[in-house]
Amino acid sequence: MAFPPAFLDELNRRTPIEELVGQYVSLTRRGGNLFGLCPFHGEKTASFSVAPDKGIYYCFGCHKGGGAINFIMEIEGLSYADAVRFLAKRAGLELPEDDRDNSQYKKKERLWALCKESARFFHEQLKSPGAREVWDYIHKRGLSPSTVKRFGLGFAPNGWNNLMDAMTAKGFTKSELLEAGLVLQHKEKGTFYDRFRNRLMFPIIDVRGNVIGFGGRVMDDSTPKYLNSPETLIFNKRRNLFALNVVKKSKSDCIILTEGYMDAIALHQYGFDCAVASLGTSLTQEHADLLSKYTNEVVLTYDGDQAGQNATQRAIPMLEKTGLRVKILRMQGAKDPDEFLKKFGADRFKLLLQGCENQAEYRLMSLQKQYDLNIDEQKVEFAKKAAELISTYSTAVEREIYGIKAAEMAKLTPEVMSLEIKKAFKRRMAIERKVQEKKELELSAARQPRSRDIRYDNLRSAMAEETLIRMLQRDPSLFARGEKLQQGYFSVPMFGKIFDIWRNCWRQDLPLQTGSLAEVLNASEMAHLSGLLQKADTPVVEEAFDDCVRIIAEEGREPEDLRAMQERLKRKKGYGGN
Ligand code: GTP
Ligand code: MN
Repeated sequence: MAFPPAFLDELNRRTPIEELVGQYVSLTRRGGNLFGLCPFHGEKTASFSVAPDKGIYYCFGCHKGGGAINFIMEIEGLSYADAVRFLAKRAGLELPEDDRDNSQYKKKERLWALCKESARFFHEQLKSPGAREVWDYIHKRGLSPSTVKRFGLGFAPNGWNNLMDAMTAKGFTKSELLEAGLVLQHKEKGTFYDRFRNRLMFPIIDVRGNVIGFGGRVMDDSTPKYLNSPETLIFNKRRNLFALNVVKKSKSDCIILTEGYMDAIALHQYGFDCAVASLGTSLTQEHADLLSKYTNEVVLTYDGDQAGQNATQRAIPMLEKTGLRVKILRMQGAKDPDEFLKKFGADRFKLLLQGCENQAEYRLMSLQKQYDLNIDEQKVEFAKKAAELISTYSTAVEREIYGIKAAEMAKLTPEVMSLEIKKAFKRRMAIERKVQEKKELELSAARQPRSRDIRYDNLRSAMAEETLIRMLQRDPSLFARGEKLQQGYFSVPMFGKIFDIWRNCWRQDLPLQTGSLAEVLNASEMAHLSGLLQKADTPVVEEAFDDCVRIIAEEGREPEDLRAMQERLKRKKGYGGN
């Protein structure tokens, strides 16, 4: 999708980066830049910077960076075109006429509106005479009226076309209802009918506050117990979590992850305002990434049964990969948080939360369960595996404590166990050292960009290109000294592109916009550029600039010079023949 440069320029002008980012991150000024906690990775010290003069953000911790459009793409999970539309709407800017892709976004807006109206309809139905049974059920489950209101719970009446009639009366079409997953179509007759009938309804709302789908529970023992919206243009189960829209405002320093809507809702009602639920699927990497934007720590409260334990084991590495701390909470005497809270109350749950076992202990206990420690061979095998596991724990104290625990489990002396752990630890250190050495070698070999998409094949030229771009950004009048340069001379394509676009801006007397480069540069290129521009400023020295120009021209022109030389040689030969 190509938007006109004038439009993007206006959009960037109307979107001061500090104000946009400030809506998501609390920023404090330090010199010319603003700093805050990075919203893209968990951190305690502010390494996330915003440069209002350059229109960019950059995180010195996770190296994400870019302009306003990149920021919205990243934080709202939108495509480039959708992020532009999002910002245009925010800035009150009319979209260009030929925004052809727009139809997709318009459709999404229709479906969001339809789902919002449907949620209103279901909620209103709680007041209807037919809602007696659902209220009985709500009371039976111990849900308070304020909880019903806070989560916008509702009632899908028992009938084939209640919702359909109400929504078509509001101007929505049956095909829109079908696309939103709210009605089904009869295979032979082709007629439409409501998907959700006679159920307690849970609207699913994304972090932006859009209703994107529903879960519906039966009020008796019939099946399926829960019916969820299918995947639609606006509803992606792998990327959304129930109640995250509420939790994102919580002051709590962890997020509790549950398996069911009812568990999350019960936790909120009992004062734990940081509970979310996955949408009837197991946790995905996308969920983990999403969670890491809102917290540093996740508490897992999956069922104690085998399936729940397996789900826990799968979730841990995905969460840890994003830098999240993981805790596992295990309940005794109840199958899920909802049941636990009702049986034992909020105080007991709080105790559980405080004393909850960390994953170090949990992993050791899971390992123990796989062996029969009354059998000698298995005991040995367990000791070996436990030593390997414990050797990965990062502090000596942890290795000591869990070493003793493992020894107790296997009825071995702590000394034997400790020796095994030391051996495993040494092996691991040797391997890690090798990996580290290799890394350092690679690092010093070339000052390559972090992103694997960008390679500096000609280091001499690339270094000059970096400096040139940084100087031009600070002082565009330098373009006058670089007239002989051409895009093709640049060894790194992204620098060539930036040079070309900026030079056009300069020639038309327009400001050099970093933000509008998002159209021609991909996310890693934008991040790389932002990283460069956020480096400590090099002073602008004309001689240094001229040096860069000379180097880029020398390195870039080589092929041409060779061709010229060949031509010359050919001509010479010709003369010689005469
Ligand atoms: P309650 O019985 O209402 O307390 O629910 P629960 O959360 O204890 O139920 P369970 O552990 O069985 O289910 C956890 C989650 O799995 C639910 O919140 C649903 O998202 C999903 N789920 C459960 N049953 C079904 C089903 O029959 N179909 C589908 N699609 N999802 C289900
Ligand atoms: Mn339950």
